[in-house]
Amino acid sequence: MFEIVKRKEMAQGTVVLNEIKAPKIAAKAKPGQFVILKANETGERIPLTMAYTDPEKGIIAVIYQVVGKSTALFSTLQEGQGYQDVIGPLGKATEIEKLGTVVCVGGGTGVAVMHPITKAMKEAGNHVIAIIGARTRDLLILEEEMKAASHDLRVCTDDGSYGHHGFVTDVLKQTLEKEDVKLVVGIGPVPMMKFVTKMTKEYNVKTLVSLNSIMVDGTGMCGCCRVSVGGETRFACVDGPEFDGHLVDFEELSKRLQAYTDMEKESYEKFKCACQS
Ligand code: NAD
Ligand code: FES
Repeated sequence: MFEIVKRKEMAQGTVVLNEIKAPKIAAKAKPGQFVILKANETGERIPLTMAYTDPEKGIIAVIYQVVGKSTALFSTLQEGQGYQDVIGPLGKATEIEKLGTVVCVGGGTGVAVMHPITKAMKEAGNHVIAIIGARTRDLLILEEEMKAASHDLRVCTDDGSYGHHGFVTDVLKQTLEKEDVKLVVGIGPVPMMKFVTKMTKEYNVKTLVSLNSIMVDGTGMCGCCRVSVGGETRFACVDGPEFDGHLVDFEELSKRLQAYTDMEKESYEKFKCACQS
């Protein structure tokens, strides 16, 4: 068992942080890499990119949004309990190099994925501007951590309850107008990443995105996570999860992510009914 040593609810309980004892993974993991977790023997395999690691304590942290049966099952696990399986680190690490000004754009729970990348970009000597957004102030996560990880944090909310009133792309546009940006990293919901890359293409700025495609094995065997990048089929689990955003077919990614929506809803409803009875 991989023990949960810390459990914290965020964003009005819709998002949960788990610090998990996994010393071998913590010793090897790099920013941008992910793990696959399984709550129990019959549980679904869920890929989550690590939000941070502490190799000395042997701990990895994941942050997930409760959106369906498996994440609802995860959220029942308390401190002292744990996951049956945690596999990783998987995927390629983010290429971290000194480039100049780097903009890290995180939307919603994508901020958790963005956090270690932002920190590593700063440690590599870049000037890091972070832009984070959420629908409303209460749903914003890791504000303090992102402030510490960057040189300049800009916050947005869709409803204007905190920071800039609008999407992260509004603030990105202002930033691209004023700064000599060498790289943008955008991580969040697919529409956000799509519009981030559309904008950076106009400004001819290289852009990385992290693709959250459906995965099973996470080792390049099943083909479930396939995405089209530059007209070629790539596997997000072994070739990614990060890709050149200007080459990603976001329409296809959206369609593939929706393939099991009805079954996921049904399964979540059954799970909720079983919990109530
Ligand atoms: P959300 O829908 O609340 O959006 C978060 C922010 O993204 C918004 O506040 C806004 O600033 C920006 N955004 C959203 N739509 C946009 C658009 N059309 N144009 C410009 N900006 C836009 O976010 P959420 O509910 O936290 O999102 C959850 C989604 O994110 C899920 O689908 C999840 O799978 C995905 N996700 C992806 C990753 C990843 O690695 N890419 C990581 C975590 C979550
Ligand atoms: Fe199976 Fe990527 S998850 S090939």
